[in-house]
Amino acid sequence: MDIELAQENKAMKYDFDKIIDRKNTNSSKWDTTKDEVLPMWVADMDFEVAPKIIKTIINKAKHGVFGYPIVPEKFYDAEINWWKKRYNYHIKKEWISQVIGVVPSLSAIIQAFCQKGDKVLVQHPVYHVFDAVIQKNELEVATNDLIYENGRYRIDFEDFENKVKDEKVKLFILCNPHNPVGRVWDKDELRQMGELCIKHNVIVLSDEIHRDLVYKNYKYTPFCSINEEFLQNSITCTAPSKTFNIAGLKASSIIVANENYKQKIDKVLNQNILSSINIFGIEAFITAYESCEDWLDELLIYLEKNKDYLISFIDKNLPKLKVVEPEATYLLWLDISKLNINSKLLAKKLEELGKLRIIPGLVYGENGDNFIRINIACPLEVLKDGLKRLENGIKLLKYQT
Ligand SMILES: Cc1ncc(COP(=O)(O)O)c(C=O)c1O
Repeated sequence: MDIELAQENKAMKYDFDKIIDRKNTNSSKWDTTKDEVLPMWVADMDFEVAPKIIKTIINKAKHGVFGYPIVPEKFYDAEINWWKKRYNYHIKKEWISQVIGVVPSLSAIIQAFCQKGDKVLVQHPVYHVFDAVIQKNELEVATNDLIYENGRYRIDFEDFENKVKDEKVKLFILCNPHNPVGRVWDKDELRQMGELCIKHNVIVLSDEIHRDLVYKNYKYTPFCSINEEFLQNSITCTAPSKTFNIAGLKASSIIVANENYKQKIDKVLNQNILSSINIFGIEAFITAYESCEDWLDELLIYLEKNKDYLISFIDKNLPKLKVVEPEATYLLWLDISKLNINSKLLAKKLEELGKLRIIPGLVYGENGDNFIRINIACPLEVLKDGLKRLENGIKLLKYQT
Protein backbone atom coordinates (compact mmCIF):
# COMPACT_ATOMS: atom_id res chain seq x y z
CA MET A 1 0.00 0.00 0.00
CA ASP A 2 1.47 3.42 -0.86
CA ILE A 3 1.91 6.02 1.90
CA GLU A 4 -0.85 8.32 0.65
CA LEU A 5 -3.35 5.47 0.54
CA ALA A 6 -2.27 4.23 3.97
CA GLN A 7 -2.78 7.71 5.42
CA GLU A 8 -6.21 8.07 3.86
CA ASN A 9 -7.22 4.65 5.12
CA LYS A 10 -6.02 5.61 8.59
CA ALA A 11 -8.35 8.56 8.53
CA MET A 12 -11.25 6.26 7.73
CA LYS A 13 -13.53 5.34 10.56
CA TYR A 14 -14.58 2.01 9.07
CA ASP A 15 -12.32 -0.87 8.10
CA PHE A 16 -13.08 -1.95 4.56
CA ASP A 17 -9.72 -3.78 4.39
CA LYS A 18 -10.92 -6.38 6.87
CA ILE A 19 -11.15 -9.80 5.26
CA ILE A 20 -14.08 -11.85 6.48
CA ASP A 21 -14.29 -15.57 5.83
CA ARG A 22 -17.71 -16.08 4.23
CA LYS A 23 -17.27 -19.80 3.55
CA ASN A 24 -19.79 -22.07 5.28
CA THR A 25 -22.17 -19.21 6.05
CA ASN A 26 -24.83 -20.27 3.51
CA SER A 27 -23.57 -17.52 1.22
CA SER A 28 -24.87 -17.86 -2.30
CA LYS A 29 -21.69 -16.21 -3.60
CA TRP A 30 -19.15 -18.26 -1.63
CA ASP A 31 -20.83 -21.55 -0.80
CA THR A 32 -21.75 -22.42 -4.39
CA THR A 33 -18.15 -21.78 -5.52
CA LYS A 34 -15.36 -24.37 -5.32
CA ASP A 35 -12.92 -23.80 -2.43
CA GLU A 36 -9.95 -22.99 -4.66
CA VAL A 37 -11.93 -20.51 -6.76
CA LEU A 38 -12.36 -16.83 -5.83
CA PRO A 39 -15.97 -15.67 -6.29
CA MET A 40 -16.38 -12.21 -7.85
CA TRP A 41 -19.80 -12.79 -9.29
CA VAL A 42 -23.04 -12.35 -7.22
CA ALA A 43 -23.93 -8.71 -6.47
CA ASP A 44 -23.26 -8.54 -2.76
CA MET A 45 -20.25 -7.09 -0.97
CA ASP A 46 -17.58 -8.87 1.07
CA PHE A 47 -17.42 -5.97 3.55
CA GLU A 48 -18.73 -6.14 7.08
CA VAL A 49 -21.86 -4.01 7.38
CA ALA A 50 -21.94 -0.77 9.36
CA PRO A 51 -21.42 -1.43 13.11
CA LYS A 52 -24.71 0.31 13.92
CA ILE A 53 -26.60 -2.23 11.84
CA ILE A 54 -24.87 -5.12 13.62
CA LYS A 55 -25.70 -3.53 16.96
CA THR A 56 -29.36 -3.02 16.14
CA ILE A 57 -29.69 -6.66 15.06
CA ILE A 58 -27.93 -7.95 18.18
CA ASN A 59 -30.23 -5.86 20.35
CA LYS A 60 -33.26 -7.26 18.57
CA ALA A 61 -31.88 -10.80 18.87
CA LYS A 62 -31.30 -10.30 22.60
CA HIS A 63 -34.96 -9.48 23.05
CA GLY A 64 -35.54 -13.14 22.32
CA VAL A 65 -39.10 -13.03 21.03
CA PHE A 66 -39.61 -12.97 17.28
CA GLY A 67 -43.35 -12.90 16.70
CA TYR A 68 -45.10 -11.16 13.81
CA PRO A 69 -43.83 -7.60 13.46
CA ILE A 70 -45.57 -4.45 12.33
CA VAL A 71 -43.87 -1.92 10.10
CA PRO A 72 -43.46 1.17 12.29
CA GLU A 73 -43.82 4.80 11.27
CA LYS A 74 -40.03 5.11 11.55
CA PHE A 75 -39.64 2.83 8.54
CA TYR A 76 -41.47 5.29 6.28
CA ASP A 77 -39.71 8.27 7.87
CA ALA A 78 -36.36 6.61 7.14
CA GLU A 79 -37.22 6.19 3.44
CA ILE A 80 -38.58 9.76 3.18
CA ASN A 81 -35.55 11.26 4.94
CA TRP A 82 -33.11 9.34 2.76
CA TRP A 83 -34.62 10.77 -0.43
CA LYS A 84 -34.53 14.22 1.12
CA LYS A 85 -30.98 14.18 2.45
CA ARG A 86 -29.32 12.32 -0.43
CA TYR A 87 -31.39 13.49 -3.40
CA ASN A 88 -33.19 16.59 -2.20
CA TYR A 89 -36.55 15.18 -3.24
CA HIS A 90 -39.64 15.00 -1.11
CA ILE A 91 -41.68 11.82 -1.24
CA LYS A 92 -44.82 11.23 0.82
CA LYS A 93 -45.67 8.40 3.16
CA GLU A 94 -48.80 7.58 1.14
CA TRP A 95 -46.60 6.77 -1.85
CA ILE A 96 -44.60 4.06 -0.09
CA SER A 97 -45.32 0.34 0.04
CA GLN A 98 -42.87 -1.89 1.85
CA VAL A 99 -41.90 -5.18 0.17
CA ILE A 100 -39.63 -8.15 0.85
CA GLY A 101 -37.37 -7.29 -2.08
CA VAL A 102 -37.05 -5.55 -5.41
CA VAL A 103 -37.43 -8.69 -7.52
CA PRO A 104 -40.72 -9.65 -5.79
CA SER A 105 -41.79 -6.02 -6.37
CA LEU A 106 -41.07 -6.26 -10.09
CA SER A 107 -43.11 -9.43 -10.30
CA ALA A 108 -46.03 -7.87 -8.41
CA ILE A 109 -45.99 -4.75 -10.58
CA ILE A 110 -45.93 -6.83 -13.75
CA GLN A 111 -48.94 -8.78 -12.45
CA ALA A 112 -50.76 -5.55 -11.61
CA PHE A 113 -50.44 -4.03 -15.07
CA CYS A 114 -50.01 -6.83 -17.62
CA GLN A 115 -52.08 -9.66 -18.95
CA LYS A 116 -51.15 -12.76 -20.91
CA GLY A 117 -49.90 -11.81 -24.35
CA ASP A 118 -48.54 -8.44 -23.22
CA LYS A 119 -44.92 -7.41 -23.52
CA VAL A 120 -42.54 -5.71 -21.10
CA LEU A 121 -39.71 -3.59 -22.47
CA VAL A 122 -36.14 -3.81 -21.12
CA GLN A 123 -32.75 -2.65 -22.36
CA HIS A 124 -30.29 -5.47 -23.00
CA PRO A 125 -27.70 -6.12 -21.76
CA VAL A 126 -29.48 -5.85 -18.43
CA TYR A 127 -29.86 -7.56 -15.04
CA HIS A 128 -30.98 -10.98 -16.26
CA VAL A 129 -33.66 -11.40 -13.60
CA PHE A 130 -35.79 -8.81 -15.45
CA ASP A 131 -36.21 -11.27 -18.33
CA ALA A 132 -36.75 -14.17 -15.94
CA VAL A 133 -39.51 -12.38 -14.03
CA ILE A 134 -41.26 -11.29 -17.23
CA GLN A 135 -41.13 -14.80 -18.65
CA LYS A 136 -42.19 -16.48 -15.41
CA ASN A 137 -45.28 -14.29 -15.53
CA GLU A 138 -45.92 -15.69 -19.03
CA LEU A 139 -45.25 -12.40 -20.77
CA GLU A 140 -42.94 -11.55 -23.61
CA VAL A 141 -39.67 -9.63 -23.31
CA ALA A 142 -39.22 -6.77 -25.77
CA THR A 143 -35.76 -5.22 -25.87
CA ASN A 144 -34.47 -1.83 -26.83
CA ASP A 145 -30.85 -2.94 -27.11
CA LEU A 146 -28.32 -0.47 -25.79
CA ILE A 147 -25.71 0.70 -28.28
CA TYR A 148 -22.05 0.26 -27.38
CA GLU A 149 -20.03 2.90 -29.17
CA ASN A 150 -16.55 4.26 -28.48
CA GLY A 151 -16.42 2.43 -25.17
CA ARG A 152 -19.70 3.83 -23.87
CA TYR A 153 -23.34 2.81 -23.89
CA ARG A 154 -26.11 4.97 -25.27
CA ILE A 155 -29.81 4.58 -26.00
CA ASP A 156 -31.19 4.04 -29.48
CA PHE A 157 -34.20 6.37 -29.16
CA GLU A 158 -35.59 5.60 -32.59
CA ASP A 159 -35.74 1.93 -31.70
CA PHE A 160 -37.08 2.86 -28.24
CA GLU A 161 -40.04 4.63 -29.84
CA ASN A 162 -40.67 1.72 -32.19
CA LYS A 163 -40.76 -0.61 -29.20
CA VAL A 164 -43.05 1.49 -26.99
CA LYS A 165 -45.37 2.08 -29.98
CA ASP A 166 -46.26 -1.61 -29.92
CA GLU A 167 -49.65 -1.75 -28.20
CA LYS A 168 -48.70 -4.96 -26.45
CA VAL A 169 -45.92 -3.17 -24.54
CA LYS A 170 -47.50 -2.07 -21.25
CA LEU A 171 -44.48 -1.55 -19.05
CA PHE A 172 -40.87 -0.43 -19.46
CA ILE A 173 -38.37 -1.59 -16.83
CA LEU A 174 -35.69 1.06 -16.57
CA CYS A 175 -32.52 0.18 -14.71
CA ASN A 176 -31.12 3.41 -13.26
CA PRO A 177 -28.20 3.20 -12.55
CA HIS A 178 -27.78 0.35 -14.98
CA ASN A 179 -26.58 -3.11 -14.03
CA PRO A 180 -24.35 -4.34 -15.70
CA VAL A 181 -23.19 -1.55 -18.03
CA GLY A 182 -22.66 0.93 -15.17
CA ARG A 183 -24.38 3.94 -16.77
CA VAL A 184 -26.15 6.58 -14.71
CA TRP A 185 -28.74 7.89 -17.14
CA ASP A 186 -28.60 11.67 -17.42
CA LYS A 187 -31.61 13.95 -17.22
CA ASP A 188 -31.84 14.35 -20.94
CA GLU A 189 -31.84 10.60 -21.56
CA LEU A 190 -34.44 10.08 -18.82
CA ARG A 191 -36.56 12.86 -20.24
CA GLN A 192 -36.54 11.42 -23.74
CA MET A 193 -37.46 7.93 -22.53
CA GLY A 194 -40.12 9.27 -20.17
CA GLU A 195 -41.76 11.41 -22.84
CA LEU A 196 -41.93 8.55 -25.32
CA CYS A 197 -43.51 6.34 -22.66
CA ILE A 198 -46.16 8.96 -21.90
CA LYS A 199 -46.83 9.47 -25.63
CA HIS A 200 -47.45 5.75 -26.12
CA ASN A 201 -49.15 4.93 -22.79
CA VAL A 202 -46.38 2.82 -21.34
CA ILE A 203 -45.77 2.87 -17.59
CA VAL A 204 -42.17 3.31 -16.42
CA LEU A 205 -41.03 0.91 -13.72
CA SER A 206 -37.73 2.34 -12.55
CA ASP A 207 -35.48 -0.05 -10.65
CA GLU A 208 -33.19 2.29 -8.69
CA ILE A 209 -31.67 -0.25 -6.31
CA HIS A 210 -28.13 0.92 -7.26
CA ARG A 211 -28.90 4.64 -6.83
CA ASP A 212 -26.58 5.24 -3.88
CA LEU A 213 -23.50 3.70 -5.47
CA VAL A 214 -22.43 6.37 -7.92
CA TYR A 215 -18.82 7.37 -8.69
CA LYS A 216 -17.27 10.83 -8.51
CA ASN A 217 -18.29 13.20 -11.34
CA TYR A 218 -21.57 11.42 -12.01
CA LYS A 219 -24.98 12.28 -10.74
CA TYR A 220 -28.02 10.09 -10.30
CA THR A 221 -31.44 11.59 -10.95
CA PRO A 222 -34.51 9.78 -9.63
CA PHE A 223 -36.72 9.24 -12.68
CA CYS A 224 -39.86 10.40 -10.88
CA SER A 225 -38.21 13.66 -9.79
CA ILE A 226 -38.02 15.07 -13.33
CA ASN A 227 -41.58 16.40 -13.48
CA GLU A 228 -45.13 15.77 -12.24
CA GLU A 229 -46.12 13.88 -15.39
CA PHE A 230 -43.20 11.46 -14.95
CA LEU A 231 -44.06 11.07 -11.29
CA GLN A 232 -47.63 10.13 -12.18
CA ASN A 233 -46.56 7.70 -14.92
CA SER A 234 -43.90 5.85 -12.95
CA ILE A 235 -43.25 3.36 -10.19
CA THR A 236 -39.87 3.35 -8.45
CA CYS A 237 -38.26 0.43 -6.64
CA THR A 238 -35.55 1.17 -4.09
CA ALA A 239 -33.82 -0.65 -1.24
CA PRO A 240 -30.92 -0.25 1.17
CA SER A 241 -29.80 -3.78 0.30
CA LYS A 242 -27.03 -3.06 -2.25
CA THR A 243 -25.96 0.17 -0.54
CA PHE A 244 -25.52 -1.30 2.93
CA ASN A 245 -24.90 -4.96 2.06
CA ILE A 246 -28.06 -6.27 3.68
CA ALA A 247 -29.65 -8.15 0.75
CA GLY A 248 -30.23 -11.21 2.93
CA LEU A 249 -32.42 -9.16 5.26
CA LYS A 250 -35.07 -8.63 2.60
CA ALA A 251 -36.51 -5.14 2.97
CA SER A 252 -37.31 -2.75 0.13
CA SER A 253 -39.80 -0.11 -0.99
CA ILE A 254 -42.02 0.72 -3.91
CA ILE A 255 -42.62 4.44 -4.38
CA VAL A 256 -45.69 5.34 -6.39
CA ALA A 257 -47.52 8.67 -6.33
CA ASN A 258 -50.30 7.73 -8.74
CA GLU A 259 -53.17 6.59 -6.50
CA ASN A 260 -54.70 4.35 -9.10
CA TYR A 261 -51.39 2.57 -9.71
CA LYS A 262 -50.79 2.26 -5.98
CA GLN A 263 -54.13 0.57 -5.39
CA LYS A 264 -53.43 -1.95 -8.13
CA ILE A 265 -49.94 -2.71 -6.82
CA ASP A 266 -51.02 -2.98 -3.18
CA LYS A 267 -53.74 -5.43 -4.20
CA VAL A 268 -51.15 -7.80 -5.72
CA LEU A 269 -48.75 -7.29 -2.80
CA ASN A 270 -51.56 -8.27 -0.43
CA GLN A 271 -52.71 -11.22 -2.51
CA ASN A 272 -49.19 -12.63 -2.48
CA ILE A 273 -48.25 -11.56 1.07
CA LEU A 274 -45.21 -9.69 -0.19
CA SER A 275 -45.18 -6.92 2.39
CA SER A 276 -44.32 -8.97 5.47
CA ILE A 277 -40.75 -7.88 6.02
CA ASN A 278 -38.63 -9.91 8.38
CA ILE A 279 -38.33 -8.51 11.92
CA PHE A 280 -34.55 -7.98 11.52
CA GLY A 281 -35.00 -6.49 8.05
CA ILE A 282 -37.18 -3.73 9.47
CA GLU A 283 -34.54 -2.79 12.07
CA ALA A 284 -31.67 -2.88 9.56
CA PHE A 285 -33.61 -0.78 7.03
CA ILE A 286 -34.31 1.96 9.58
CA THR A 287 -30.81 1.99 11.05
CA ALA A 288 -29.12 2.00 7.64
CA TYR A 289 -31.05 4.97 6.31
CA GLU A 290 -31.22 6.90 9.57
CA SER A 291 -27.74 6.36 11.04
CA CYS A 292 -25.24 4.96 8.52
CA GLU A 293 -24.73 7.72 5.98
CA ASP A 294 -21.11 8.23 7.08
CA TRP A 295 -20.43 4.52 6.46
CA LEU A 296 -21.77 4.87 2.91
CA ASP A 297 -19.63 7.94 2.26
CA GLU A 298 -16.51 5.97 3.23
CA LEU A 299 -17.63 2.96 1.22
CA LEU A 300 -17.88 5.18 -1.86
CA ILE A 301 -14.30 6.37 -1.35
CA TYR A 302 -13.14 2.77 -1.03
CA LEU A 303 -15.03 1.60 -4.12
CA GLU A 304 -13.64 4.53 -6.10
CA LYS A 305 -10.13 3.34 -5.22
CA ASN A 306 -10.89 -0.28 -6.07
CA LYS A 307 -12.32 0.84 -9.40
CA ASP A 308 -9.22 2.95 -10.16
CA TYR A 309 -6.96 0.07 -9.14
CA LEU A 310 -8.76 -2.32 -11.50
CA ILE A 311 -8.60 0.15 -14.38
CA SER A 312 -4.87 0.76 -14.00
CA PHE A 313 -4.14 -2.95 -13.49
CA ILE A 314 -5.96 -3.84 -16.68
CA ASP A 315 -4.34 -1.01 -18.65
CA LYS A 316 -0.93 -2.21 -17.57
CA ASN A 317 -1.27 -5.98 -17.58
CA LEU A 318 -4.20 -6.92 -19.77
CA PRO A 319 -4.23 -4.41 -22.64
CA LYS A 320 -6.55 -6.60 -24.70
CA LEU A 321 -9.32 -5.99 -22.17
CA LYS A 322 -11.15 -2.71 -21.92
CA VAL A 323 -13.02 -1.48 -18.86
CA VAL A 324 -16.28 0.22 -19.78
CA GLU A 325 -16.12 3.52 -17.85
CA PRO A 326 -17.98 2.80 -14.61
CA GLU A 327 -20.36 5.57 -13.61
CA ALA A 328 -22.08 3.59 -10.87
CA THR A 329 -22.36 0.19 -9.13
CA TYR A 330 -19.59 -2.06 -7.89
CA LEU A 331 -20.18 -4.35 -10.86
CA LEU A 332 -17.62 -3.59 -13.56
CA TRP A 333 -18.20 -4.44 -17.20
CA LEU A 334 -15.17 -5.53 -19.17
CA ASP A 335 -15.01 -5.61 -22.95
CA ILE A 336 -13.33 -8.91 -23.97
CA SER A 337 -13.90 -8.63 -27.73
CA LYS A 338 -10.17 -8.54 -28.51
CA LEU A 339 -9.67 -11.95 -26.92
CA ASN A 340 -11.74 -13.61 -29.64
CA ILE A 341 -13.54 -15.93 -27.27
CA ASN A 342 -17.19 -15.89 -26.26
CA SER A 343 -18.04 -14.86 -22.71
CA LYS A 344 -19.38 -18.23 -21.61
CA LEU A 345 -16.27 -20.10 -22.66
CA LEU A 346 -14.06 -17.41 -21.16
CA ALA A 347 -15.92 -17.65 -17.83
CA LYS A 348 -15.51 -21.43 -17.86
CA LYS A 349 -11.80 -21.17 -18.66
CA LEU A 350 -11.21 -18.45 -16.07
CA GLU A 351 -12.71 -20.70 -13.46
CA GLU A 352 -10.69 -23.75 -14.57
CA LEU A 353 -7.36 -22.05 -15.25
CA GLY A 354 -7.42 -18.83 -13.27
CA LYS A 355 -9.54 -20.07 -10.33
CA LEU A 356 -11.74 -17.00 -10.63
CA ARG A 357 -15.53 -16.88 -10.94
CA ILE A 358 -17.08 -13.97 -12.80
CA ILE A 359 -20.31 -13.69 -14.81
CA PRO A 360 -20.30 -14.09 -18.61
CA GLY A 361 -21.94 -11.14 -20.34
CA LEU A 362 -24.20 -13.43 -22.37
CA VAL A 363 -26.29 -13.88 -19.23
CA TYR A 364 -27.50 -10.28 -19.66
CA GLY A 365 -28.58 -10.66 -23.28
CA GLU A 366 -27.03 -11.66 -26.59
CA ASN A 367 -25.42 -8.27 -27.02
CA GLY A 368 -23.55 -8.89 -23.76
CA ASP A 369 -21.50 -11.73 -25.20
CA ASN A 370 -18.33 -9.70 -25.71
CA PHE A 371 -18.20 -8.78 -22.03
CA ILE A 372 -17.76 -10.16 -18.54
CA ARG A 373 -19.02 -8.70 -15.24
CA ILE A 374 -16.77 -8.57 -12.21
CA ASN A 375 -17.72 -7.53 -8.67
CA ILE A 376 -15.14 -5.24 -7.03
CA ALA A 377 -16.88 -4.81 -3.65
CA CYS A 378 -14.22 -6.58 -1.63
CA PRO A 379 -11.10 -5.65 0.36
CA LEU A 380 -8.32 -4.35 -1.90
CA GLU A 381 -6.12 -7.37 -1.13
CA VAL A 382 -8.87 -9.67 -2.39
CA LEU A 383 -9.32 -7.54 -5.51
CA LYS A 384 -5.56 -7.74 -6.17
CA ASP A 385 -5.74 -11.52 -5.85
CA GLY A 386 -8.74 -11.62 -8.19
CA LEU A 387 -6.97 -9.52 -10.82
CA LYS A 388 -3.88 -11.74 -10.66
CA ARG A 389 -6.16 -14.71 -11.23
CA LEU A 390 -7.77 -12.92 -14.18
CA GLU A 391 -4.34 -12.22 -15.67
CA ASN A 392 -3.18 -15.78 -15.06
CA GLY A 393 -6.32 -17.30 -16.51
CA ILE A 394 -6.03 -15.24 -19.67
CA LYS A 395 -2.31 -16.04 -20.04
CA LEU A 396 -2.91 -19.78 -19.61
CA LEU A 397 -5.77 -19.56 -22.08
CA LYS A 398 -3.36 -18.24 -24.70
CA TYR A 399 -1.15 -21.29 -24.28
CA GLN A 400 -4.15 -23.56 -24.70
CA THR A 401 -5.30 -22.07 -28.00
C1 LIG B 1 -31.08 -3.99 -10.88
C2 LIG B 1 -31.34 -4.96 -9.77
N1 LIG B 1 -32.57 -5.08 -9.27
C3 LIG B 1 -32.85 -5.93 -8.25
C4 LIG B 1 -31.87 -6.72 -7.69
C5 LIG B 1 -32.21 -7.65 -6.56
O1 LIG B 1 -33.09 -7.07 -5.67
P1 LIG B 1 -33.65 -7.86 -4.39
O2 LIG B 1 -32.51 -8.61 -3.79
O3 LIG B 1 -34.18 -6.79 -3.51
O4 LIG B 1 -34.74 -8.76 -4.88
C6 LIG B 1 -30.55 -6.62 -8.19
C7 LIG B 1 -29.49 -7.47 -7.65
O5 LIG B 1 -28.41 -7.55 -8.14
C8 LIG B 1 -30.29 -5.72 -9.25
O6 LIG B 1 -29.06 -5.57 -9.75
